[in-house]
Amino acid sequence: KPRAFSGIQPSGGLTLGNYLGALKRFAQTQNAGTHETIFCMVDLHAITARLLSPDELRNNTRELCAGFIASGVDPEKSILINQSQVPEHAQLAWIFNCVARMGWMGRMTQWKDKSGKDAEGASLGLFAYPALMAADILIYHATHVPVGDDQKQHLELTRDIAAKFNHDYGVDFFPITEPVIEGAATRVMNLQDGTKKMSKSDPVDKTRINMTDDADAIAKKIRKAKTDPDPLPDAVDGLAERPDARNLVNIYAALADLDPQAVLDEHAGAMFGHFKVALADLAVAKLSPISSEMSRLMDDPAEIDRILGRGAERAREITVPILEQTYDIVGMLRS
Ligand code: TYM
Repeated sequence: KPRAFSGIQPSGGLTLGNYLGALKRFAQTQNAGTHETIFCMVDLHAITARLLSPDELRNNTRELCAGFIASGVDPEKSILINQSQVPEHAQLAWIFNCVARMGWMGRMTQWKDKSGKDAEGASLGLFAYPALMAADILIYHATHVPVGDDQKQHLELTRDIAAKFNHDYGVDFFPITEPVIEGAATRVMNLQDGTKKMSKSDPVDKTRINMTDDADAIAKKIRKAKTDPDPLPDAVDGLAERPDARNLVNIYAALADLDPQAVLDEHAGAMFGHFKVALADLAVAKLSPISSEMSRLMDDPAEIDRILGRGAERAREITVPILEQTYDIVGMLRS
């Protein structure tokens, strides 16, 4: 079977954007049965922007693992791992640091956004971030990478790294990966500003729905979400210039497994005051079982650690031979 791989950073809590853009689709990929699925908490990536306290990082990693499982990723059907427990990721990343060019990295919009005005003060890890991400994927020879829209540029770079490695060594070793960016919610927007992405790092909490929010908080944030005074249009074209309205329709569609047009077929002409009540009910119905399952799983951290330990063992059956072959191609002496 071809392999699918994806990862999420344990840098903070999960948002509705992570759920709809990633987690929910991971479970669908797993259940489709077309790919061997590997999902990763990327703890090495999580310290690139700032160093978390050790307890915070450990706790975030466990909570993220609980989020994967509560969203339907089954550690029996998929390989579920913590990045630093499979050391071949970081080892391959070093090789890729020597394949990728400074110019490529400098053009990444995430690097520009996160380093901001202080590129001199940013960590070297933040700059090299995409080479580690390429290694995450290619250490499994994965071809299928389900992600949200914001990861597109990183996946193009992954293809460039694979192609340059293959070309420089005259081999056909690393596959050219396909990004899979599908569905109504590949870019869930900020609830207070529909032109910005919903993000776990936004300082203002009401801009996002957290996967740990209770029913009241979810309903309140949806009720207070920014909209415009017009009713819902009858066709998706009518949302083109209405980013806040479009975002709520897309969220509804993704939660209900419908096309945005099907949502409009049902709600055309409704005012947002009304539509938000339906959206809040739907969001609570879909998200509450996940957050309660997450807190149930978090009651037994030893079990989570056991799952990740077992995942790492299974992962290394794949990664150790691929790293060995890579070292061989490069000419690293093995004795
Ligand atoms: P991260 O941790 O920022 O986000 C994890 C996943 O959630 C998606 N996502 C969203 N989707 C829709 N709307 C949003 N508002 C939204 N916010 C986040 C992201 O697109 C992503 O799919 N670099 C990656 C982690 C990573 C990775 C990998 C991914 C490391 N190695 C290898 C794929 C393959 C990241 O920072 O994701």
